[in-house]
Parts: sequence; structure tokens; C-alpha cells
Amino acid sequence: MAGMSLLDPFGRKVNYLRLSVTGRCNLRCSYCRPAGGDEAPTAGEILSDDDLLLLARTAVGLGIEKIRVTGGEPLVRKGVVGLLSRLAAIPGLKKLVLTTNGLHLKESAEALRRAGVESLNVSLDTLRPDRFARITGGGDLRRVVEGITRAQECGFPYIKINAVVMQGINDDEIEEFAALTLDRPLRVRFIEYMPAAAADRTHGITVPGEEILDRLSRRYRLLPMGKEELGGPARYFRIDGSAGAVGIITPVSCHFCGDCNRIRVTSGGVAKGCLFSLQDIDLKPFLRRGNAEGLRKALQDVVQGKPDRHLLSPEGFGGKPFAMSAVGG
Ligand code: 5AD
Ligand code: SF4
Repeated sequence: MAGMSLLDPFGRKVNYLRLSVTGRCNLRCSYCRPAGGDEAPTAGEILSDDDLLLLARTAVGLGIEKIRVTGGEPLVRKGVVGLLSRLAAIPGLKKLVLTTNGLHLKESAEALRRAGVESLNVSLDTLRPDRFARITGGGDLRRVVEGITRAQECGFPYIKINAVVMQGINDDEIEEFAALTLDRPLRVRFIEYMPAAAADRTHGITVPGEEILDRLSRRYRLLPMGKEELGGPARYFRIDGSAGAVGIITPVSCHFCGDCNRIRVTSGGVAKGCLFSLQDIDLKPFLRRGNAEGLRKALQDVVQGKPDRHLLSPEGFGGKPFAMSAVGG
């Protein structure tokens, strides 16, 4: 098994799988779903624990080293902690990580740590309770904040906070978010809003990463940090003297596709070589028949079909709008 690696036609090594384990979510963030739609797949359509394990084992056998479990909100999946500990035990998997909205983190942090989850990303776009309720369709900010604190107490080494920056919606909070890193070992990552779910309604609210850095530099002294092994596309900076770090993720203004190392599988078992790919591969038929060889071949096809770059711009991406909740970001 050791030494296997997946190379795409552009010479990129693919070692990272993002695995959505449910399309359901206990929040309703305005940017996450296409207008009016709640396209969460019904229970029958989502992959079972056994499907997900076969998929993950096969992917690791091919060269995947890091798996991020996503949703929807992964913690609303029944038995997700058991699933995570089985995933963590896969020989050859170096890193199991999770993205959550943090709503259930307070109760689950300890179990997640024990299950073998190495680090957590928490999606959090505002630090103001009323605004949080508005953006998320009624969420309680306090639970998320308490969840983050609890996760730190449980020994998660550094927690990443993902803040999608939206012009006129939360872009006045950039400095306050950055201030969270002054005395806590948090990594606050500012993500450029991608017009994916509702291209028609929400174009023009993307704030370029460079502008975010400019604004932060006016208040703080930012020291660039190096790239981490198996890390994502974030560029990190430390505010001089701070305990944590701030980062920008710039899918729109700056194509990091050249370094892309990932594939994705939706909660319904559809594999995607790119978030914005137009050719997806349904893995369910192979999973249902326990056809490991077919699955290997299909995953290799996904990697071979990876586009060299996406065509995303602040105006849209030329494809059909899709629900981020089905793909897991
Ligand atoms: N643009 C940028 N980021 C998004 N996410 C969800 N939808 C979008 C979007 N349209 C983020 C979530 C989460 C991650 C999985 O993807 O906030 O942090
Ligand atoms: Fe849920 Fe995340 Fe979508 Fe918000 S962005 S509705 S937390 S899946």
C-alpha cells in the first residue's frame, strides 16, 4: 500500500479526500443552498457507514492520506462518532479532520477527540448574535462559541475558524475576527465568497483576499508564515505577538488550482474532481455491489478527469448553481 500515489494529467499529486456524510444541516446559511431549495437527500440516498468505509479504504489504498469529513453538518448524522473512529483506524490514513458549524460541538468535542479526529474547522461568519441568527436562519451563536472553547479544552491543538467574507453582510467584522487570534491559538481563515449556490442573487459580494489583508495591515503588523504539510490553500500570517494566525483563502481572485490536491464525494456518493466540475462520477453502483476493483477504477477516473482550473469569477462559474450543503464546500 505504501508508495501508491494518485497523479492527475497535470502532474498534481492527489492525496486529499473531502467526504460529505450528510446533506442535512441544522442551520440555513443564506449562501449555502440555491434560492428556495432544500435539496437535502433523503436518508435512503446517502451512503451507509459501510459504503463510506469501503470508499475511504479504497481511496487510502490508492494514495489518499488525508480525509476531511464534511456535510451539510456532519454532526447531525446518526452515529457519526462511531463512523469517525472507524475511519481514523484505516491503516495508511495520516490525517482525519472534520468541518462543522459548531452547534453540537460542546457536547461532542470530547468524543470527537477520542475518535481520532486530529483537527477541527468551524464555520463561523459573524461574532454578533443577532447577525448570526439572521445569516444562519435562526442559529444560536453562544452554542458555537462555547463549542469552540470546549474543543480547545479537550486538547484540539489549533482550531480553524472559517469565515466567508461577504460585502455589506459581515465584512465590517474582519478586524474583530482577527483579534480572536491575539490571545488564543486559533487560526481564523477569511474565505472569499464563491457565487455557487445562488449565482443570480449574490454576485458582487465577494471581497478579494488582498483587500482583506490590506484592511488587516492597517490595524495589525502581519508576519507571513510558511506552508504546512498536507495543508490546504490558505496563506497564513501571524499578527505580531499573537497566539494564533490569520489566513486568507482566495478561490475567486487567485486561482490556487495549480496546487490542487483534492477530490470530493457528496453525501449521495457522487465523486467530483473539482468543486465546479461538470463531469461527476456516481460511485454508488460500485459501493452497492461491494465492487472494490470498479471503485478503484472510478476513483482513478475522477482524478484523471480533474480540470486544470475552474472558471469561477465574482460573477459566477458558468455551470449549474449547486447546493454547497450537498458537496461540503
Ligand atoms: N463561498 C465560500 N465558502 C463557502 N462555504 C459554503 N458556501 C460557500 C460559498 N458560497 C464554506 C462554509 C464552510 C466550508 C465548508 O465552505 O462556510 O466553512
Ligand atoms: Fe449548514 Fe454549513 Fe450550509 Fe451553513 S454553510 S447551512 S452551517 S452546511
